[in-house]
Amino acid sequence: MEIKSFFDTRTATLTYVLYESASGEAVIIDPVLGYDQSSGMTDVQAADEVITFIKERHLLVRWILETHVHADHLTAACYLKKHLGGKIAIGAQIQKVLNFWVPFFNSVKDTPLDGSQFDVLLHHHQTLVVGGCVIQVLHTPGHTPVCCSFFVHDAIFVGDTLFMPDVGTARTDFPGGNAGILYDSIQKLFQLPDDIKVYVGHDYPPQGREVRWVSSLRQQKESNILASENISRKEFIQKRQERDLHKPVPQLLLPALQVNLRAGSFGLPEENGFQYIKIPVNGLGRL
Ligand SMILES: [Fe+2]
Repeated sequence: MEIKSFFDTRTATLTYVLYESASGEAVIIDPVLGYDQSSGMTDVQAADEVITFIKERHLLVRWILETHVHADHLTAACYLKKHLGGKIAIGAQIQKVLNFWVPFFNSVKDTPLDGSQFDVLLHHHQTLVVGGCVIQVLHTPGHTPVCCSFFVHDAIFVGDTLFMPDVGTARTDFPGGNAGILYDSIQKLFQLPDDIKVYVGHDYPPQGREVRWVSSLRQQKESNILASENISRKEFIQKRQERDLHKPVPQLLLPALQVNLRAGSFGLPEENGFQYIKIPVNGLGRL
């Protein structure tokens, strides 16, 4: 499978297109929809780059995969499905995330708790066939309960389970996040062959380094600043929790969650025809 990476500078997010030239089939992982919070305007610039890439190569999109319910950007899954087809899939543990957040947003009218807004709910070790390739789903919770990684040939797409070795891992302080569980998921990944390539869901480069998104599993084991193989579970939990202590709320948390829980749909329009994003006043303080 060939891999094309797209980096959204506004949200530091990586979107991947995996495609097989022989069959012309493709998979999109973690697409981004632009959203300007102050104006409420969306923009499809990042998503349209993916559409152009797919159309230029006459690819047939089989799957639009979400590694998890993102809290820092809106997904373009719904928009891409409309323009390119394909099935939207996310981990089956989405039901846990829905059960937590849907009552909070009071959005059950257009956000089903059973996850049926997604075409397929994915289970650990499930396989997806794309042309002549098989993608294996690995459930890698910890950052969120729903997080999945996608393993194909010599590459794994880990979402936020690991970041580049000099960045570490994603935070574990969201509801349902758990540092110990993240450590266990990383150990699961570390069982894979050392030379597989690890593609991350974000990159936040330290000052002076350019954006990067791929490392080998060996590099992760040897030098991940938070999760290398010589760091114990106890140490990892301690370091991760220290880092999470004063992390700010992601700028797009409230818009992103409610839209991403609907697979990228903005929900039912009101009588005036507009769709709304709701901001619960002092809501986060009550969690
Ligand atoms: Fe995330």
